[in-house]
Formats: sequence, C-alpha cells, structure tokens
Amino acid sequence: MSGGRPLVLTQLRLAEDLRARLEADFEVLDVPSGEREALRSATAAGWLADGSVRVDQAVIDGLPSLRMIAADSVGTDFIDLAATSAAGVRVSNAAGTADDAVAELALGLILALGRDIVDSDAYCRDGRWRSDGPDARLSTGVHDSTVGILGMGRIGRRLGELLAPLRVRTVYHNRRPSPESDAIGEWLPREELLRVADYVVLLLPLTEETRGSFGAAELGVMRTDARLVNLGRGAVVDSAALADALRRGAIAGAALDVMEQEPLPAGSELLAAPGLILQPHVGSATPSTRRSMRERAVAELRRGLLGLPLESEVG
Ligand code: DGY
Repeated sequence: MSGGRPLVLTQLRLAEDLRARLEADFEVLDVPSGEREALRSATAAGWLADGSVRVDQAVIDGLPSLRMIAADSVGTDFIDLAATSAAGVRVSNAAGTADDAVAELALGLILALGRDIVDSDAYCRDGRWRSDGPDARLSTGVHDSTVGILGMGRIGRRLGELLAPLRVRTVYHNRRPSPESDAIGEWLPREELLRVADYVVLLLPLTEETRGSFGAAELGVMRTDARLVNLGRGAVVDSAALADALRRGAIAGAALDVMEQEPLPAGSELLAAPGLILQPHVGSATPSTRRSMRERAVAELRRGLLGLPLESEVG
C-alpha cells in the first residue's frame, strides 16, 4: 500500500490507457515475466498474471496480502485453484475474449490439413510439381465432412458456426449435452465421436482429469483417414503416442497449436512426425484479441479489489 492505494503487481506490459485505468485506483508495480522470485510482497493486494509462473502454495505464501489474481488468458491451469481458494484469493480469466481468434485458427488448421496446404507450398518449391501428373495433389476437402469437438464451449460453438457454410456436420462431446451446444451440433458419446469424425478438434482445458487423456487408445479409435487438431492445452495429448500414430499411418495427419512443452524442444519426436502441422501457441494472437484479453484482466482486477462482482470468476 502506498499513499493509501492498494498495490498491484503486473507481469503484463500494458498499453498506456490500460495502465492509467489501473493507476487511477492502485499503486502499480511491474514484475518481470517468468521470474518467481519477483513475486514476493508483503503488501500486494492484486496481481495481473501472464501465466509464466506456476501459482502454487509457495508463491501464494510469498504474497500474504493478495486478494485477487486476474489472468489475461482463458486457461488458468497454471494456477493451483485449491491453494488460492484456501487463501481467500479470487481468480478471474479472460473467457470469451478469444473465441473468434481461436475458432478461426481451428478452421484454418482444419482446412490446411484437409487441403494439404502446407505440403502443397513445399511441392511448388522443391521440384515435385515439374515431374508429377495432374492428379498428384488430390486432397480430402472439408466440405460435407464431420468435425468432432471434444471440450465444447464458446470457442467450439464459434467454430461450429464457421464450419456451417461448408455443410460440415458438427458433433461434440462434453460430460453432458447443453442446449447452446445442441443448437450448433449433435452430442455423441466420446468413442462414437472418435469413430465418426473426419477431424477431431480438442478444445479441452488442462485439469487432472484431462492431462494425458488423449493417447494411444483414443488415436486407435480414430479412423486412418481422420485428423487431429489441438488448440486447448498440449499436455492433454500424449505426444509420444501421437508421433507414433502419425509414423504408422494410424491417423492421416494432425495440427497442434499447443504442446506439452513450449517452445517445443529441439529433440522432440513431434518435429519428425509426418503429416503434422505445428503452430507456436498463437490461437489468440491477434492485436485486437490480445488487447481484449488485457482489458478484461485489468477490469476484473479492479472489480475484484473494489469488491464488485466479477465477469469471469474461476473456481
Ligand atoms: C489462453 O488464453 O488460454 C491461450 O491459450 C493463451 O495462453
């Protein structure tokens, strides 16, 4: 606390106007991204968190006056929610601010896999075009196919809307069907979805239940001409099982925007897996989306510390 104003820590580099919004009510202290040791303060009441440090009991213990963490991400798997709740710290995320951006990247990856866009680029450059016949580049197409979404929420529903003009049948699996999702697609049991989908799209959050939940068994149920797309969290997928399935041709291809370890380490077997498109976790990476995510975090932090209801409270 300084001059009576509560202290907030920020790992986010805020645009001037957003910073001014915070400074109107709070003392603001920048802390470097990724540095655990910087997150110790006897007086900090709020924290704008960028997900670069795991929020565990030790971090919570180092911030004894903390009342509110506002994350500028949709995923809050970096936060031990049991520890924050036990310490009376409220948590918010940026749910709803990235739906369009993540859904459009999902659409792009589905199209890139179906129409073989990445390899066709290489084909134009590496000499194959000159020697092959006219039907050498036939690809599967996306129109009239079935897209199965595991982890249907706002982003999945937006994806279903984007796919509708292509006459795609959208099916989904969550623990329970919901009327909003039923308006976009048909709920199917998980195994049936894996059997019927041409494209399986994972939009699952990372929890104890989902960690490693998509592995050899699930890949084994998918058809050999089906493809997998993951834009949720990398650790949901067993990378070794995926690389193996791609090498054996057990599935036709995959695209990952998220990986178990980010950035992907140089020796990762995924780098050598055939038919795999990689993206550097950029689902939400458009300037306007990132702006909305930060705007939400700043607004939530302010509401939380002023004792107002939150828009996207987690836990
Ligand atoms: C999110 O918002 O969770 C994105 O994956 C960026 O971390």
